[in-house]
Amino acid sequence: MMAQVVGGYFTSHVPAIGGAIQRGDQHEAYWKPFFDGFPPVRQWLADAAPDVAVVFYNDHGLNFFLDAMPTFAIGAAASYHNADEGWGLPVYKSFTGHPNLSWHLIEALVEAEFDMTTCQKMMVDHALSIPFELAWPDAEAWPVKLVPIAINTVQFPLPSPRRCLALGRAVGAALRAWPGSERIVVMGTGGLSHQLEGGRAGFMNPDYDRFCLDNLASDPDALTGHTAEQVAELAGTQGVEILNWIAARGALGDAPQTMVMRNYHVPISNTAAATVVLEPA
Ligand code: DHB
Ligand code: FE
Repeated sequence: MMAQVVGGYFTSHVPAIGGAIQRGDQHEAYWKPFFDGFPPVRQWLADAAPDVAVVFYNDHGLNFFLDAMPTFAIGAAASYHNADEGWGLPVYKSFTGHPNLSWHLIEALVEAEFDMTTCQKMMVDHALSIPFELAWPDAEAWPVKLVPIAINTVQFPLPSPRRCLALGRAVGAALRAWPGSERIVVMGTGGLSHQLEGGRAGFMNPDYDRFCLDNLASDPDALTGHTAEQVAELAGTQGVEILNWIAARGALGDAPQTMVMRNYHVPISNTAAATVVLEPA
């Protein structure tokens, strides 16, 4: 029996979401349009019943800092711990890893000429914990094992959208070749458009966000027509987190995908927030 990729869950990972959860503000007018996207995500996850999550995200200075920044890093740890990298959020539950699947991916990726940084110790920040809190809000322990894949979206030069899609496709091919019975959900976190610093702080671009959402399921190659620098122009200097979504979409493979749900709401904090679920058509 081979492993099965059951679909993809994509969401923004804005730290302020953690504050809203802590205060119980999910039904407040400011937050409701965002949180209303999650009952369908939770229902889909309950039906799809994954037991592993392969998560494309970016670290924001918790595990990697500007002194040593891998372009692509993958965890191969037995467990991963969260900590607060400075937003004042609660410390979230730890994650159980899947070292055997991690090493399978590492071997396949290096064979496919992706020179991964391999991390047998790795802390994970809000970009991982917030999407899990949104998906499984009442869980005593996370119901899936974790393989985290960190993409540098923080310090230029960034990998190109084309390279991130290729990385995702290589991950997807390796997942489908894993001789286990796992049901695997792929996740992509961050985005959509936002810029937190500099002269364009507060910049968002709903036109570019719509372009990404319209093409994610059916034509992800359309998202690779821009360089990473052009994506920073179009989406903002943190909107480049769309690279995580592009890689995650790649891991779903070339089979047609159905968009199970799509939610877009501007703004959450400084971010145009989006949530999407894709599954094989
Ligand atoms: C915000 C968004 C992010 O993606 C992030 O990592 C930190 C902050 C924001 O909009 O506040
Ligand atoms: Fe972020």
